[in-house]
Amino acid sequence: MSETLAAPLSSALRDGAADHLIVTIPGDGVGPDVVAAARRVLDAAGSKFGFKLAWCEILAGGCAIDAYGVAVREEDLQIADTADALLLGAVGGPKWDNPNGSVRPEQALFAFRTRYELFANLRPVTIYPELADASPLKAERLKGVDMLMVRELTGGLYFGKPSGEEVTPTGRRAVDTLPYHEDEIHRVAVIAFELARTRRKSVTSVDKANVLSTSRLWRKVVTEVGADYPDVKLEHRLVDSTAMLLATWPATFDVVVTENLFGDILSDEAAVLAGSLGMLPSASLGARRTAHGTFGLYEPIHGSAPDIAGKNLANPIGTILSAAMMLRESLGRADAAAAVEQAVANTIRMGVRTADLAPGLDAAGARTAGFTLAGTREATDAIVEQLLSLK
Ligand code: IPM
Ligand code: MG
Repeated sequence: MSETLAAPLSSALRDGAADHLIVTIPGDGVGPDVVAAARRVLDAAGSKFGFKLAWCEILAGGCAIDAYGVAVREEDLQIADTADALLLGAVGGPKWDNPNGSVRPEQALFAFRTRYELFANLRPVTIYPELADASPLKAERLKGVDMLMVRELTGGLYFGKPSGEEVTPTGRRAVDTLPYHEDEIHRVAVIAFELARTRRKSVTSVDKANVLSTSRLWRKVVTEVGADYPDVKLEHRLVDSTAMLLATWPATFDVVVTENLFGDILSDEAAVLAGSLGMLPSASLGARRTAHGTFGLYEPIHGSAPDIAGKNLANPIGTILSAAMMLRESLGRADAAAAVEQAVANTIRMGVRTADLAPGLDAAGARTAGFTLAGTREATDAIVEQLLSLK
């Protein structure tokens, strides 16, 4: 199976028929809907900018559990090994939500993160002024919001051992372990400072140093790394106060760097600012290189939303913007990345919105409110059209 799938990929590249190999992992729920959308946009970007993509799809998540009994098979990971980048939709859903089950869809995510040491998870939060009404925050608080969350992704509580539940004479007991080595902190801090240099030159490092030993080490190491970046302002902030500031004055933040679990929580909170989880992209990067940049896993930050799966309702923008990040970071196509981002911005400006950005409105109500309600495919059509017509 793996050979028959992987062979066309590598031969396409050898024959010069394709410039980049992308492995897609549509996954569960709306995953296939949004991955198909992003694939169309990437192919359109290729036709506009003169490069060709080879595609291959693997199963991971709940669909792989149904088909093979595991969240992802080793032979499919070997296909992923041949890619320049991975494009993932979403994994999981109530169908596989058995807390006592030994196979869970999320194990596929952890397999990708550990196999490629994808330690830096980048989650940019950009606000489109036209969508201010879709955000729960007052428009004036959203002004100037442009932040980049850098979440450590391969350490901390997610992977610490021991972890598990046991029965003791006094009752059940469970434990998770939060370890961090200074090297793990150092490498993600370097990424945060480097990225801050390309932006507003400010890093907020988030921890719980008043309580946790790992946070005190985090603070020390980030401060040491910061000494090499005198041009970048460094601020340390406790995670509870960060959660509050994100919901009150989010424009305060430029680059935010934090450990795995804090980053998981804060990035969902930050995502709300954009009006919908469906808007936000992410890139997970590590040390692995491709011919043109850094190998990465790209995915929207939203989940599998099984209730709207296959109904042409999902917002494709988070995945399309993830594809733009892929063009920039993994494929060395910064021009195409900027064009995709511009095409998305133009489409939003034209008033095209998926249902998540028009809560409670039907097509007629949306028209009255001044925009056009679009399905996944129609929104993607509009973005592709904008992309192809850019000068
Ligand atoms: C995310 C998700 C995952 C995580 C889950 C699905 C394991 O919430 O990518 O943010 O916690 O990392
Ligand atoms: Mg999360």
